[in-house]
Amino acid sequence: MNAMTKIANTGADSAETEVRFPAEKILVSATDQRGVITCVSESFCEIAGYSSDELMGAPHKIVRHPDMPKGVFYLVWETLKAGRPICTYVKNQTKSGDYYWVLAVMTITENGFLSSRIKPEAELFEKTKKIYSTLLREEAQGLTPEQSAAKFKEMLAEEGFPNLEAYSGFALNAEFKSRNIISPELAQSFASMDDLELLIRDMQNLVDNIEQGFERVRGEPVNLRILAGRLEGAGAALGTISQNYDAMAKEMHGLVGRLHDPETGALQQMYKAVVYGRSTLQTSQLFDEAFKAAQAQENQSEADARMLQEHGEKLQSLCRSRIIEISSIGKSIPDICRSLRRRINGLDVVKLLCKVESGRMRDVDSGLDGIIARLENFHDNTDRHLAELSGKASQVTQKGATI
Ligand SMILES: Cc1cc2nc3c(=O)[nH]c(=O)nc-3n(C[C@H](O)[C@H](O)[C@H](O)COP(=O)(O)O)c2cc1C
Repeated sequence: MNAMTKIANTGADSAETEVRFPAEKILVSATDQRGVITCVSESFCEIAGYSSDELMGAPHKIVRHPDMPKGVFYLVWETLKAGRPICTYVKNQTKSGDYYWVLAVMTITENGFLSSRIKPEAELFEKTKKIYSTLLREEAQGLTPEQSAAKFKEMLAEEGFPNLEAYSGFALNAEFKSRNIISPELAQSFASMDDLELLIRDMQNLVDNIEQGFERVRGEPVNLRILAGRLEGAGAALGTISQNYDAMAKEMHGLVGRLHDPETGALQQMYKAVVYGRSTLQTSQLFDEAFKAAQAQENQSEADARMLQEHGEKLQSLCRSRIIEISSIGKSIPDICRSLRRRINGLDVVKLLCKVESGRMRDVDSGLDGIIARLENFHDNTDRHLAELSGKASQVTQKGATI
């Protein structure tokens, strides 16, 4: 039975129809370094309407649809040539001039590239189509492929994706979530990765809270200095206290900043690793499914099926190394938290000295009590957040060991 359906395009100026295919179909192709097709799956031929003989040895642009912006392919090649995988939505043209949409995952192999495609369904697909329309319009007005690729990234950033990796990971995950294509054996691993992502997000929120605390008390040493100035001789001790507090808080703030630096911070590295790890596992699942389909197909070459299986296994081991990376970063965080909490104790001592001064100036309405209360609040909150952060990091390490 032919599982495809054709749906007439409602666009006023087009007679082409959309070829829809079942969610469980996975369209696979492999190319050499230049993008010449070296292997195609049965389902790819079926949907594209070409025979395997027609596709083998043809450039992959044989299925290119004119509605696809040049900038997207510019980005595809730029990313693949840099050795990184990419995942994005693609509109393709069939031999008879109809079209079909896919979410295409493209990765690097030893002697070229490999791509697996599934039917797109997630909400992000609709958003991406709108972005493509804008790019296409601007390309028609003279935007070069390179400029269009830059515009694509800009528009993704506006949608909340700081880079292409984040978009690719999100798209693949969204498509996986919108259908049931996860094998029961891997379902547990995916659930654990979702938990890991949530834990890392919680940790990011905790560090954000700690950062905000530092921002809020930043003015307090200045307030102490102003107070010291007003009290003249009697406030000399407060001046020294404010200097000590300022120096200690700045040093601590710097350490916290290193945890969540957007490029090099431990939390960002963990987050990237979990998104990348999940995408590689999902891609490996797609190749595994395609491998099973190829095995069931009589006329599919055994070598092609083996290539899919080997690539799937390679991706699984890549995913495992990402998880090990997350666990080892997770292990280092409790130590950082302990050292930061020790520094809070140091700040507490400085705060105590303020209290002593406040006691000595009982009769003066100095505002010192207000400053002490705010510092106390900041110390308590920071200490609590650091304890929670340390606990979450330990959970990350434990969770990582179960994947
Ligand atoms: C592994 C792999 C898979 C590809 N899959 C597609 C595809 O499904 N559709 C497509 O139009 N281009 C695909 N391309 C990109 C084409 O090679 C080509 O760059 C694109 O069709 C744009 O053609 P143009 O540069 O002549 O405009 C793929 C490339 C690689 C390496």
